[in-house]
Amino acid sequence: MSTDLDSFTSTEKDGLYKAVFSRRDVRSHFIDKKIPDDVLVKILNAAHHAPSVGYSQPWDFIIIKSKATRLKVKNSFSVEREKSISLLDNDLDKQDKYIKLKLEGILESDINICVTYDPERFGPFILGRTSIPETGEYSVCCAIQNLWLTARAEGVGVGWVSILSIDDLRKILGIPNHVKPIAYLCLGYVNKFEDRPDLERVGWLKRTILSKVIHFEDWNNTELSSWYNINKMIQNLNDR
Ligand SMILES: Cc1cc2nc3c(=O)[nH]c(=O)nc-3n(C[C@H](O)[C@H](O)[C@H](O)COP(=O)(O)O)c2cc1C
Repeated sequence: MSTDLDSFTSTEKDGLYKAVFSRRDVRSHFIDKKIPDDVLVKILNAAHHAPSVGYSQPWDFIIIKSKATRLKVKNSFSVEREKSISLLDNDLDKQDKYIKLKLEGILESDINICVTYDPERFGPFILGRTSIPETGEYSVCCAIQNLWLTARAEGVGVGWVSILSIDDLRKILGIPNHVKPIAYLCLGYVNKFEDRPDLERVGWLKRTILSKVIHFEDWNNTELSSWYNINKMIQNLNDR
């Protein structure tokens, strides 16, 4: 019998690592199958148990089924996508790749969720947010990651759409001015979770090797004798 202080059992760990490593951003592959209410509630409740600066829990979740609403959001996406495409006018290869990418599943997914940030909740004094105001938004991102991983464990795909106008989202969804939309998510069952990120598969970018982003003791050391073992282990990961 394990206690609360023990590490997870190997089965429990396997489940967690499976969620982490097999989670994908899903834009295609959505199938026509409803997410049961109890599964959706579990996913939302997991999101709601995320860490938050000063325990401010600054998130709200707008759950959207309406086709009419989604069409308006899709329209905002199309406008913003055109703007992105024009930013690549001087790099036609990249522009061509971008045009071919599927970057949202707003209409094909079962449910859309807009996750917002309310800087005024429990404020104005939020413990821990006094020096770095962005910690409020970071907290919302923690909730989104909980949602994303739990959805994966439930077999539900999630795609984050950020090619949208915040003003459009505020108008379409009736979000008050002081509340900021952070993420627009598309959720649904899928016929496949890809092994690798879509952007990697199409040759847009590769996963950076871990050793490139590790520094020892300060920014300027990427190798240090006192960190030899861990450095070796990280480099061995690169070979796989
Ligand atoms: C803040 C944020 C915004 C994103 N916006 C979009 C988006 O607008 N469209 C899209 O297709 N993917 C979007 N993504 C998904 C990323 O492209 C994806 O996470 C990345 O390519 C790695 O793939 P993976 O999530 O499958 O591991 C977003 C991800 C994050 C974290």
